[in-house]
Amino acid sequence: MRKGVLIFFITNIIIIGFLVNSVWTLLTLLFIDGSEDQISRAELPAPNSGAISERPRLIPKIIHQTYINESIPAHWQGPQQSCLDLHPDYEYKLWTDKKSREFIAAEYPWFLETFDGYEFPIMRADAIRYFVLAHFGGIYIDLDDGCNRSLDPLLAYPAWVRRTTPTGISNDAMGAIPRHPFFLRAIDSLPEYNRNWILPYITVMGSTGPLFLSVIWRHYNSGKPKGLDRVRVLFKDEYNNHPWSFFTHHRGSSWHGKDVHLIFWMAHHWMFLTVIGFTLGFAVLFFIWWFCGRVVLSGTIKGRNVNSRIPYWRRVSQKDYELVDRHEV
Ligand SMILES: *[C@@H]1O[C@H](CO)[C@@H](O)[C@H](O)[C@H]1NC(C)=O
Repeated sequence: MRKGVLIFFITNIIIIGFLVNSVWTLLTLLFIDGSEDQISRAELPAPNSGAISERPRLIPKIIHQTYINESIPAHWQGPQQSCLDLHPDYEYKLWTDKKSREFIAAEYPWFLETFDGYEFPIMRADAIRYFVLAHFGGIYIDLDDGCNRSLDPLLAYPAWVRRTTPTGISNDAMGAIPRHPFFLRAIDSLPEYNRNWILPYITVMGSTGPLFLSVIWRHYNSGKPKGLDRVRVLFKDEYNNHPWSFFTHHRGSSWHGKDVHLIFWMAHHWMFLTVIGFTLGFAVLFFIWWFCGRVVLSGTIKGRNVNSRIPYWRRVSQKDYELVDRHEV
Protein backbone atom coordinates (compact mmCIF):
# COMPACT_ATOMS: atom_id res chain seq x y z
CA MET A 1 0.00 0.00 0.00
CA ARG A 2 2.76 2.48 0.91
CA LYS A 3 4.59 1.48 -2.22
CA GLY A 4 1.40 2.23 -4.13
CA VAL A 5 1.28 5.74 -2.71
CA LEU A 6 4.92 6.30 -3.58
CA ILE A 7 4.44 5.16 -7.16
CA PHE A 8 1.29 7.30 -7.30
CA PHE A 9 3.27 10.41 -6.38
CA ILE A 10 6.22 9.62 -8.63
CA THR A 11 3.88 9.03 -11.56
CA ASN A 12 2.18 12.35 -10.90
CA ILE A 13 5.48 14.19 -10.73
CA ILE A 14 6.52 12.64 -14.04
CA ILE A 15 3.23 13.62 -15.67
CA ILE A 16 3.40 17.18 -14.32
CA GLY A 17 7.01 17.36 -15.49
CA PHE A 18 5.95 16.23 -18.94
CA LEU A 19 3.13 18.80 -19.10
CA VAL A 20 5.38 21.63 -17.94
CA ASN A 21 7.96 20.58 -20.50
CA SER A 22 5.44 20.61 -23.32
CA VAL A 23 4.19 24.10 -22.51
CA TRP A 24 7.63 25.40 -21.50
CA THR A 25 7.95 27.76 -24.47
CA LEU A 26 4.59 29.29 -23.58
CA LEU A 27 5.61 29.67 -19.95
CA THR A 28 8.90 31.34 -20.88
CA LEU A 29 6.99 33.79 -23.08
CA LEU A 30 5.51 35.16 -19.88
CA PHE A 31 8.96 36.02 -18.56
CA ILE A 32 10.97 36.86 -21.68
CA ASP A 33 10.41 40.50 -22.54
CA GLY A 34 12.73 40.75 -25.54
CA SER A 35 14.47 43.77 -24.02
CA GLU A 36 17.91 42.50 -25.11
CA ASP A 37 16.72 43.04 -28.71
CA GLN A 38 14.79 46.22 -28.06
CA ILE A 39 15.04 49.04 -30.58
CA SER A 40 15.66 51.67 -27.95
CA ARG A 41 14.28 55.19 -28.22
CA ALA A 42 17.83 56.47 -27.74
CA GLU A 43 19.00 54.93 -31.02
CA LEU A 44 15.99 56.12 -33.05
CA PRO A 45 16.26 59.57 -34.67
CA ALA A 46 13.35 61.99 -34.13
CA PRO A 47 10.73 62.19 -36.92
CA ASN A 48 12.38 64.98 -38.91
CA SER A 49 15.96 64.52 -37.80
CA GLY A 50 18.75 64.77 -40.39
CA ALA A 51 20.24 61.66 -38.79
CA ILE A 52 17.63 59.49 -40.53
CA SER A 53 19.31 59.71 -43.92
CA GLU A 54 22.65 58.66 -42.42
CA ARG A 55 21.33 55.32 -41.31
CA PRO A 56 21.82 52.15 -43.33
CA ARG A 57 18.90 50.97 -45.50
CA LEU A 58 18.67 47.23 -45.34
CA ILE A 59 14.95 46.61 -45.72
CA PRO A 60 13.59 47.36 -49.23
CA LYS A 61 11.05 50.19 -49.47
CA ILE A 62 7.92 48.09 -49.86
CA ILE A 63 4.72 48.27 -47.82
CA HIS A 64 2.58 45.13 -47.76
CA GLN A 65 -1.05 45.01 -46.64
CA THR A 66 -3.77 42.37 -46.96
CA TYR A 67 -7.50 42.45 -47.59
CA ILE A 68 -10.16 40.25 -49.21
CA ASN A 69 -10.24 42.39 -52.36
CA GLU A 70 -9.44 45.89 -53.56
CA SER A 71 -12.49 47.49 -51.88
CA ILE A 72 -11.01 48.59 -48.57
CA PRO A 73 -13.83 49.42 -46.09
CA ALA A 74 -14.26 53.13 -45.35
CA HIS A 75 -13.06 52.90 -41.73
CA TRP A 76 -9.67 51.57 -42.88
CA GLN A 77 -9.14 53.96 -45.77
CA GLY A 78 -7.90 56.67 -43.39
CA PRO A 79 -5.15 54.55 -41.83
CA GLN A 80 -4.22 53.10 -45.23
CA GLN A 81 -3.97 56.57 -46.79
CA SER A 82 -1.82 57.85 -43.90
CA CYS A 83 0.79 55.19 -44.74
CA LEU A 84 0.61 55.90 -48.47
CA ASP A 85 0.99 59.66 -47.91
CA LEU A 86 4.05 59.31 -45.69
CA HIS A 87 5.78 56.88 -48.09
CA PRO A 88 5.47 58.17 -51.67
CA ASP A 89 8.80 56.56 -52.51
CA TYR A 90 7.73 53.09 -51.33
CA GLU A 91 6.25 50.37 -53.48
CA TYR A 92 2.78 49.45 -52.24
CA LYS A 93 1.47 45.87 -52.44
CA LEU A 94 -2.07 45.01 -51.43
CA TRP A 95 -2.39 41.23 -51.07
CA THR A 96 -5.98 40.37 -51.93
CA ASP A 97 -7.25 36.81 -51.50
CA LYS A 98 -6.85 36.20 -55.22
CA LYS A 99 -3.33 37.64 -55.48
CA SER A 100 -2.25 35.79 -52.32
CA ARG A 101 -3.34 32.43 -53.65
CA GLU A 102 -1.69 33.05 -57.04
CA PHE A 103 1.52 34.04 -55.32
CA ILE A 104 1.61 30.93 -53.11
CA ALA A 105 0.72 28.67 -56.06
CA ALA A 106 3.50 30.16 -58.18
CA GLU A 107 6.29 30.58 -55.62
CA TYR A 108 5.59 28.19 -52.74
CA PRO A 109 3.55 25.31 -54.21
CA TRP A 110 4.48 23.05 -51.26
CA PHE A 111 2.35 25.32 -49.07
CA LEU A 112 -0.73 25.55 -51.27
CA GLU A 113 -2.52 22.58 -49.72
CA THR A 114 -2.12 23.97 -46.19
CA PHE A 115 -3.03 27.46 -47.41
CA ASP A 116 -6.24 26.30 -49.11
CA GLY A 117 -7.08 24.02 -46.20
CA TYR A 118 -7.11 26.73 -43.53
CA GLU A 119 -10.47 26.74 -41.83
CA PHE A 120 -10.64 30.51 -41.26
CA PRO A 121 -9.80 33.22 -43.85
CA ILE A 122 -7.84 35.16 -41.20
CA MET A 123 -5.35 32.26 -41.18
CA ARG A 124 -4.57 32.86 -44.85
CA ALA A 125 -4.21 36.58 -44.10
CA ASP A 126 -1.75 35.69 -41.32
CA ALA A 127 0.24 33.25 -43.43
CA ILE A 128 0.57 35.43 -46.53
CA ARG A 129 2.27 38.23 -44.59
CA TYR A 130 5.10 35.91 -43.48
CA PHE A 131 5.52 34.65 -47.04
CA VAL A 132 5.69 38.07 -48.69
CA LEU A 133 8.14 39.34 -46.06
CA ALA A 134 10.30 36.25 -46.50
CA HIS A 135 10.11 36.61 -50.28
CA PHE A 136 10.27 40.32 -51.09
CA GLY A 137 11.22 41.82 -47.74
CA GLY A 138 9.66 45.14 -46.80
CA ILE A 139 7.27 46.21 -44.07
CA TYR A 140 3.94 44.58 -43.39
CA ILE A 141 1.23 46.75 -41.80
CA ASP A 142 -2.27 45.66 -40.74
CA LEU A 143 -5.04 47.74 -42.26
CA ASP A 144 -6.11 48.99 -38.84
CA ASP A 145 -2.66 50.47 -38.23
CA GLY A 146 -2.09 53.92 -39.59
CA CYS A 147 1.34 55.57 -39.97
CA ASN A 148 2.36 58.43 -37.71
CA ARG A 149 5.75 59.18 -39.25
CA SER A 150 8.01 57.85 -41.99
CA LEU A 151 9.15 54.29 -41.36
CA ASP A 152 12.58 55.01 -42.88
CA PRO A 153 14.48 54.64 -39.57
CA LEU A 154 13.15 51.09 -39.26
CA LEU A 155 14.75 50.13 -42.57
CA ALA A 156 18.07 50.05 -40.72
CA TYR A 157 17.31 46.71 -39.04
CA PRO A 158 17.48 43.39 -40.88
CA ALA A 159 14.28 42.25 -39.14
CA TRP A 160 11.96 43.69 -36.55
CA VAL A 161 8.71 42.72 -34.86
CA ARG A 162 6.51 44.40 -32.29
CA ARG A 163 6.31 43.53 -28.61
CA THR A 164 2.85 43.02 -27.13
CA THR A 165 1.55 42.82 -23.60
CA PRO A 166 1.06 40.61 -21.72
CA THR A 167 3.26 38.21 -23.69
CA GLY A 168 5.14 37.71 -26.92
CA ILE A 169 5.08 39.59 -30.18
CA SER A 170 2.39 40.66 -32.62
CA ASN A 171 2.19 40.11 -36.35
CA ASP A 172 0.38 43.35 -37.18
CA ALA A 173 3.46 45.43 -38.00
CA MET A 174 6.83 43.93 -38.85
CA GLY A 175 9.66 44.32 -41.28
CA ALA A 176 12.51 42.31 -42.77
CA ILE A 177 15.08 42.01 -45.51
CA PRO A 178 14.24 39.38 -48.15
CA ARG A 179 14.94 35.79 -47.05
CA HIS A 180 15.60 36.69 -43.43
CA PRO A 181 16.16 33.42 -41.50
CA PHE A 182 13.47 34.28 -38.94
CA PHE A 183 10.72 34.61 -41.55
CA LEU A 184 12.04 31.64 -43.49
CA ARG A 185 11.71 29.65 -40.33
CA ALA A 186 8.19 30.97 -39.77
CA ILE A 187 6.97 29.93 -43.23
CA ASP A 188 8.75 26.61 -42.94
CA SER A 189 7.00 25.92 -39.61
CA LEU A 190 3.47 26.83 -40.71
CA PRO A 191 2.37 23.34 -41.90
CA GLU A 192 3.65 21.74 -38.68
CA TYR A 193 1.76 24.22 -36.49
CA ASN A 194 -1.49 23.87 -38.43
CA ARG A 195 -3.58 22.13 -35.76
CA ASN A 196 -7.15 22.30 -34.69
CA TRP A 197 -7.35 23.40 -31.06
CA ILE A 198 -11.16 23.11 -30.97
CA LEU A 199 -11.65 26.75 -30.00
CA PRO A 200 -11.40 28.92 -33.15
CA TYR A 201 -9.54 31.62 -31.22
CA ILE A 202 -6.81 29.28 -30.06
CA THR A 203 -6.63 27.53 -33.43
CA VAL A 204 -6.04 30.83 -35.23
CA MET A 205 -3.61 32.21 -32.62
CA GLY A 206 -1.56 29.02 -32.35
CA SER A 207 -1.52 27.93 -35.99
CA THR A 208 -0.79 31.18 -37.81
CA GLY A 209 -1.36 34.18 -35.53
CA PRO A 210 0.69 36.09 -32.97
CA LEU A 211 0.99 33.10 -30.64
CA PHE A 212 2.44 31.02 -33.47
CA LEU A 213 4.91 33.78 -34.34
CA SER A 214 5.82 34.27 -30.66
CA VAL A 215 6.62 30.59 -30.23
CA ILE A 216 8.76 30.60 -33.39
CA TRP A 217 10.45 33.77 -32.12
CA ARG A 218 11.29 32.08 -28.80
CA HIS A 219 12.73 29.00 -30.50
CA TYR A 220 14.62 31.14 -33.00
CA ASN A 221 16.17 33.33 -30.29
CA SER A 222 17.28 30.32 -28.27
CA GLY A 223 19.86 29.82 -31.06
CA LYS A 224 21.32 33.24 -30.07
CA PRO A 225 21.19 34.81 -33.56
CA LYS A 226 23.85 37.45 -34.18
CA GLY A 227 24.40 40.32 -36.60
CA LEU A 228 22.01 40.31 -39.53
CA ASP A 229 20.22 37.26 -38.16
CA ARG A 230 18.99 39.12 -35.10
CA VAL A 231 15.31 40.07 -34.81
CA ARG A 232 14.91 43.47 -33.18
CA VAL A 233 11.85 44.41 -31.16
CA LEU A 234 9.79 47.59 -31.31
CA PHE A 235 8.31 48.35 -27.91
CA LYS A 236 5.03 49.96 -26.96
CA ASP A 237 6.13 53.60 -26.81
CA GLU A 238 7.74 53.43 -30.23
CA TYR A 239 4.71 51.63 -31.64
CA ASN A 240 2.01 54.18 -30.84
CA ASN A 241 0.58 56.90 -28.57
CA HIS A 242 3.52 59.32 -28.75
CA PRO A 243 4.55 62.01 -31.26
CA TRP A 244 7.69 59.97 -32.04
CA SER A 245 5.81 56.65 -32.37
CA PHE A 246 5.68 55.03 -35.81
CA PHE A 247 2.05 53.96 -35.88
CA THR A 248 -1.41 54.98 -34.80
CA HIS A 249 -3.64 52.12 -33.87
CA HIS A 250 -7.28 52.09 -34.93
CA ARG A 251 -8.54 49.37 -32.65
CA GLY A 252 -9.80 46.24 -34.22
CA SER A 253 -8.09 42.95 -34.39
CA SER A 254 -4.84 43.28 -32.53
CA TRP A 255 -3.49 40.52 -30.36
CA HIS A 256 -4.61 42.39 -27.29
CA GLY A 257 -8.14 42.85 -28.61
CA LYS A 258 -8.48 39.14 -29.30
CA ASP A 259 -6.88 38.32 -26.00
CA VAL A 260 -9.47 40.34 -24.18
CA HIS A 261 -12.17 38.54 -26.16
CA LEU A 262 -10.85 35.20 -24.98
CA ILE A 263 -10.69 36.33 -21.39
CA PHE A 264 -14.29 37.54 -21.63
CA TRP A 265 -15.28 34.27 -23.22
CA MET A 266 -13.61 32.34 -20.42
CA ALA A 267 -15.17 34.54 -17.75
CA HIS A 268 -18.54 33.97 -19.33
CA HIS A 269 -18.08 30.20 -19.34
CA TRP A 270 -16.13 29.90 -16.10
CA MET A 271 -18.54 27.37 -14.61
CA PHE A 272 -18.30 25.12 -17.64
CA LEU A 273 -14.49 25.44 -17.75
CA THR A 274 -14.17 24.75 -14.02
CA VAL A 275 -16.34 21.64 -14.20
CA ILE A 276 -14.45 20.34 -17.24
CA GLY A 277 -11.12 21.07 -15.54
CA PHE A 278 -12.02 19.29 -12.32
CA THR A 279 -13.58 16.33 -14.12
CA LEU A 280 -10.50 15.87 -16.26
CA GLY A 281 -8.20 16.32 -13.27
CA PHE A 282 -10.02 13.75 -11.15
CA ALA A 283 -10.30 11.32 -14.05
CA VAL A 284 -6.54 11.48 -14.54
CA LEU A 285 -5.85 11.09 -10.80
CA PHE A 286 -8.23 8.18 -10.54
CA PHE A 287 -6.69 6.48 -13.54
CA ILE A 288 -3.18 6.83 -12.10
CA TRP A 289 -4.35 5.57 -8.71
CA TRP A 290 -6.02 2.58 -10.30
CA PHE A 291 -3.02 1.89 -12.50
CA CYS A 292 -0.50 2.07 -9.63
CA GLY A 293 -2.68 -0.18 -7.52
CA ARG A 294 -2.76 -2.81 -10.22
CA VAL A 295 0.97 -2.70 -10.79
CA VAL A 296 1.86 -2.86 -7.11
CA LEU A 297 -0.60 -5.58 -6.19
CA SER A 298 0.18 -7.74 -9.16
CA GLY A 299 3.77 -7.68 -7.86
CA THR A 300 3.03 -8.47 -4.22
CA ILE A 301 0.10 -10.86 -4.09
CA LYS A 302 0.26 -12.21 -7.56
CA GLY A 303 0.20 -15.84 -6.43
CA ARG A 304 -3.25 -15.60 -4.88
CA ASN A 305 -5.53 -16.70 -7.62
CA VAL A 306 -8.43 -16.38 -5.25
CA ASN A 307 -8.03 -12.59 -5.26
CA SER A 308 -7.33 -12.04 -8.91
CA ARG A 309 -10.90 -11.24 -9.84
CA ILE A 310 -11.66 -9.10 -6.82
CA PRO A 311 -11.47 -5.36 -7.55
CA TYR A 312 -8.40 -3.57 -6.29
CA TRP A 313 -10.09 -1.58 -3.53
CA ARG A 314 -11.72 -4.73 -2.16
CA ARG A 315 -8.43 -6.56 -2.15
CA VAL A 316 -6.78 -3.74 -0.25
CA SER A 317 -9.35 -3.81 2.49
CA GLN A 318 -9.16 -7.56 2.71
CA LYS A 319 -5.41 -7.44 3.08
CA ASP A 320 -5.67 -4.81 5.80
CA TYR A 321 -8.07 -7.01 7.76
CA GLU A 322 -5.67 -9.89 7.45
CA LEU A 323 -2.90 -7.80 8.94
CA VAL A 324 -5.10 -6.72 11.80
CA ASP A 325 -6.12 -10.30 12.47
CA ARG A 326 -2.57 -11.49 12.50
CA HIS A 327 -1.62 -8.75 14.91
CA GLU A 328 -4.31 -9.81 17.31
CA VAL A 329 -3.35 -13.47 17.22
C1 LIG B 1 -15.01 42.85 -51.64
O1 LIG B 1 -15.32 42.08 -50.46
C2 LIG B 1 -16.40 42.59 -49.71
C3 LIG B 1 -16.51 41.80 -48.42
O2 LIG B 1 -16.63 40.42 -48.66
C4 LIG B 1 -17.66 42.57 -50.56
O3 LIG B 1 -18.75 43.07 -49.83
C5 LIG B 1 -17.45 43.36 -51.83
O4 LIG B 1 -18.56 43.26 -52.66
C6 LIG B 1 -16.21 42.90 -52.58
N1 LIG B 1 -15.92 43.81 -53.65
C7 LIG B 1 -15.63 43.41 -54.89
C8 LIG B 1 -15.31 44.48 -55.86
O5 LIG B 1 -15.61 42.23 -55.22
